[in-house]
Amino acid sequence: MSTLADKLTALVAQAAEAAGYGDSPIPLEPCVPTNDPRHGDYQSNYAFRVGKAARTNPRAVAQAMVDALGDSELVASAEVAGPGFINFRIADAALAADLMERIGSATLGAPRIGEGKTMVIDYSSPNIAKRMHVGHLRSTIIGAAIDRIHRMLGYTVIADNHIGDWGTQFGMLIVAWHRWRDEAAFAEDSIAELQRLYRLFREEAKEDASLEDLARAETAKLQAGDADNLALWERFVKESLVEFEGVYERLGVSFDVVHGESYYRDGLQALVDRLLDQGIATMSEGAAVVEFSPEDGKGLGKSPLLVRKSDGAALYGTTDLATVEHRMATWNPETIVYVTDQRQQLHFRQVFAAAKKMGHTAPEYVHVWFGMVRNPDGSIMASRKDGSAITLVDLLDTARDEARKRVDDKSSHLPEEERAAIAEAVGVGAIVYNDLSQNPQSDVIFDWEKMLAMEGNTAPYLMYALARCHSLLRKAGDFEPGGLVLGHESERALALQISRTPEVVLQCAGTWKTNALADHLYGLAGALAAFWRDCPVLKDDVDPATRQSRLTLAHATAVAMSSGLELLGLTPLERM
Ligand code: ARG
Repeated sequence: MSTLADKLTALVAQAAEAAGYGDSPIPLEPCVPTNDPRHGDYQSNYAFRVGKAARTNPRAVAQAMVDALGDSELVASAEVAGPGFINFRIADAALAADLMERIGSATLGAPRIGEGKTMVIDYSSPNIAKRMHVGHLRSTIIGAAIDRIHRMLGYTVIADNHIGDWGTQFGMLIVAWHRWRDEAAFAEDSIAELQRLYRLFREEAKEDASLEDLARAETAKLQAGDADNLALWERFVKESLVEFEGVYERLGVSFDVVHGESYYRDGLQALVDRLLDQGIATMSEGAAVVEFSPEDGKGLGKSPLLVRKSDGAALYGTTDLATVEHRMATWNPETIVYVTDQRQQLHFRQVFAAAKKMGHTAPEYVHVWFGMVRNPDGSIMASRKDGSAITLVDLLDTARDEARKRVDDKSSHLPEEERAAIAEAVGVGAIVYNDLSQNPQSDVIFDWEKMLAMEGNTAPYLMYALARCHSLLRKAGDFEPGGLVLGHESERALALQISRTPEVVLQCAGTWKTNALADHLYGLAGALAAFWRDCPVLKDDVDPATRQSRLTLAHATAVAMSSGLELLGLTPLERM
């Protein structure tokens, strides 16, 4: 269904037509929420622009459009304001009807703008034999939210986890494995053991340069398909994936395909040969590079993309070009999105420019990049105080344990099992929400106290607001939503906030940022608090119709809040 803003915009188009401005060269402009609710719910700036373009008084144009509006069930009032804006107030009955229709839909009636369109989203993408670090956590959290948002809008989304499972490090690991492995340690914590082996190799290779030659030979054997090396590599991959899977499960994330870099390994040399043949790549000091001109992108003129080293090895970027080819051939997507930290900006600009040279000009390429994770003191979060690396599993466990303390404090009456589930949902939710409620391009601060606070723009605050709706509905007993009448201003404000949710989802999709949705949910919780304050529901002196209407509003709030929290990747709870 269309959004409230769209419904009004359609009305403005009709009014413009009726007032004689139908052939204005100015394209129709969507209505937007007013900055100040006292001026109305939405405003249109269209008349202002039309008037300017026609060199007539924009206020007069706005007035003509208002006069031409005629009777509309949607609008309670339309007023000309400022230099030629129109402020609209939605009619209460229309708002109530819009809300009821929305909460009957699994997607809150979000417009299916992605219908028939395919989007590949490349996110998480950790590296085998290494711990997933906080950067991969951010990629996973942000990527999964973008994924869910676009699915809600009707896109066919292919979530592809482009894991780093190929490269020269495997030759080193194989050498180290044969010399120094500790099977028991591998069984206990395989990634820790692989990391130990890798570091040990690096140390030893400083003393004994022949180790590097051995590693190169093992890498070459692996690449040539040697059965033993392949088997060992597969084991490393499999064991690493087990740990990644554990993290994904706790975050509620799953992928449609997991094509690691290794998936493309056999086609890389032929790809580079082809690029050379076609003149897309050129030889430079024994290496093959794709060179760019300033038209390919700002600053790219001086930054060629290396696709084959002088020793013949293909690189990260070569794989990315093969990956674009594969995605185009397999899904022919309209959009390909990559989610990584800020340090890969140049890499992706190069890859996108090179892919276009290869003829893949149709898709929209998007690099969604994000900043670092910092401790409250400003230091980059990568290691613990004692210098050892923070693992994601540790981080999630700490969040859960911190949340558990608070749950035990507040909700000691709940059974043990439920408290454990709440702690997991709140702890993980706090990490996810802390990330998604900020502009992804700024650094994220990891402050447990703030993240887990019951007040403010936090996961626990929103989750608790939702649980309170459910608690009311439980107390009310049997009830079917319906009979919504927006009498009190606080009821109306809450309903408007609920109905606007899909508009915000659209905004998030358009900007590749989720913080607008977080802000919206925070606003929703605020409107709910005002509703609780002003509008008693189960008190004895509330008449049955009002009680029914207010229960419906609480139910609708719960539907919108759950749906919003789920989009962000939180687990909505009915009790906390
Ligand atoms: N594995 C890479 C890393 O950890 C991220 C991969 C991102 N995706 C891609 N297609 N390059 O930095």
